[in-house]
Amino acid sequence: MTETHFGYSTVDETAKARHVRGVFDSVARRYDVMNDLMSLGMHRAWKAYAVAVARVRPGDTVLDVAGGTGDLARAFASRVGARGLVVLSDINEQMLRQGRDRLLDGGLIVPSLLCDAEALPFAGATFDLVSVGFGLRNMTHKEKALAEMARVLKPGGRLLVLEFSKVAAPLAKAYDWYSFNVLPRIGRLVAGDEASYRYLAESIRVHPDQETLKAMMKTAGFGHVDVHNLSAGVVALHVGIKC
Ligand SMILES: C[S@@+](CC[C@H](N)C(=O)[O-])C[C@H]1O[C@@H](n2cnc3c(N)ncnc32)[C@H](O)[C@@H]1O
Repeated sequence: MTETHFGYSTVDETAKARHVRGVFDSVARRYDVMNDLMSLGMHRAWKAYAVAVARVRPGDTVLDVAGGTGDLARAFASRVGARGLVVLSDINEQMLRQGRDRLLDGGLIVPSLLCDAEALPFAGATFDLVSVGFGLRNMTHKEKALAEMARVLKPGGRLLVLEFSKVAAPLAKAYDWYSFNVLPRIGRLVAGDEASYRYLAESIRVHPDQETLKAMMKTAGFGHVDVHNLSAGVVALHVGIKC
């Protein structure tokens, strides 16, 4: 039996995906409003930054992994044009439904695919860009997921990993206080779910920091990796080039 993190708890590897599914089944309906509340709207700026760095061009093929309610997929879809393709994917049916419906409501037809990032159902060298926003930290075998993302990228293609990371030391105390006192309370009041938002705070603390994730991406096949700290490291954007 191999064990892994689920927030601060240790669970059997085979159970982690089930626990994560429980979290996202529970939060799916209130996910977008909670994102705005918890990050004070900052998640929009972090995603806009990632989209700007992505420099997606008309005709590009893009895969958004763990795409959830589709913020990144939507931004990419309006950039790739009629000749390009964006695929929204997620392991969780509730989250994917929310994403697909939002995109359709916005007039965008984007293929939506239920799949595990650790076993992507695409041939090698299919995409120009792969993105994963706030999803990697929930995956059981991060190395496997990163290797899969490298596999489906064309040579020279880029992976964007937007994820919570290690905040700068002077802010750590205040950030911890906010994460463990305010976040779970907002979760209880707005989404009726304190535990999922406690998991959010814990999962951020056990996620690899900037340098560790950079090294993991290099091992997974990204010859060059740039790290952009956002909001003093609350979030980091890792950009890996497959080479
Ligand atoms: C915090 S949400 C992020 C959603 C969206 N990318 C965003 O930035 O708003 C994390 C997502 O990761 C998905 N996820 C977790 N483990 C996954 C896996 N192994 N493969 C694919 N998606 C996964 C969850 O279902 C959830 O929708």
